[in-house]
Amino acid sequence: MPIFYGKATLMDHLKSIKTPDSTIGFVPTMGALHQGHLALMRQSLLENDNTVVSIFVNPTQFNNPEDLAKYPRTLEDDIKKLDNLDPSIILYAPSVDDIYEGKVVSQNFDFDGLENQMEGKFRPGHFDGVGTIVKRLFEIVAPTKAYFGEKDFQQLQIVKKMVAKNGLKVVIIGCPIFREENHLAMSSRNERLSYKEREDAAIIYKILSAVKEKFKTETTKEISEWVSDYLKKDAHFELEYFTIADEETLLSCTEKIENKKYRAFIAVLVNNIRLIDTISLN
Ligand code: PAJ
Repeated sequence: MPIFYGKATLMDHLKSIKTPDSTIGFVPTMGALHQGHLALMRQSLLENDNTVVSIFVNPTQFNNPEDLAKYPRTLEDDIKKLDNLDPSIILYAPSVDDIYEGKVVSQNFDFDGLENQMEGKFRPGHFDGVGTIVKRLFEIVAPTKAYFGEKDFQQLQIVKKMVAKNGLKVVIIGCPIFREENHLAMSSRNERLSYKEREDAAIIYKILSAVKEKFKTETTKEISEWVSDYLKKDAHFELEYFTIADEETLLSCTEKIENKKYRAFIAVLVNNIRLIDTISLN
């Protein structure tokens, strides 16, 4: 499998294999690869002539230094997984210096308010960091299509917004959430949960499924109170936020409007490990 640790050699390679109508699919990741990541790559492999995967734990999107320090880094294992999936995958695994060239700072972005909701409220500066790295990676890889998971739905909408506002040529593809057998959304952070915590975290999807049912008849206020009360019963889980929001604007829904698409979003702390999930409601 071709592996590049620096942008110059990667860009040379991509130039050498590019033909006038060949396509590049791109899957940016922070590594500790799991089936959720691999599902995005499978889709890219099906839809493009070449697939580039990046593995880079981006320091500027971590507002919490402990979270950055504890983020799993498993490059050797990841390389095996990629090679097993398809040895034609091109891996870009840069150093912080290769990306940031000595200045590890974010650019400031205006995502028309999408950045001020949910993750943006609880992780100040997070989406400036995401915008900075994704834009930089798009400049380096110049993909035809790029694949993002609905697991991080707010991130997906923000990347789409950045592409639209900057007139970038890449097409952004959103992919469904890949779940464990107990329906816990797969995440690199799940590796930090004990076996018991992982089993118990099934409660998150159970809540979201119940919310989907309740959404048919109850108000968003009633539903939010139910979620908060339900989680209070379990001392292992601390609710950071629960919200029902318009899929497009990500603004909280106080009153349902016909023809609008809504989603429930939840962030929960389990033993200080942050888990997020989302479900489409209508
Ligand atoms: P990371 O958390 O590694 O996720 C990489 C991609 O995989 C993201 O698009 C994410 O939404 C998707 N993904 C993660 N878990 C998934 C699941 N269970 N089902 C489907 N897709 C899933 O998101 C990032 O990295 C970073 O913010 C990044 C975009 C790479 C920028 O640094």
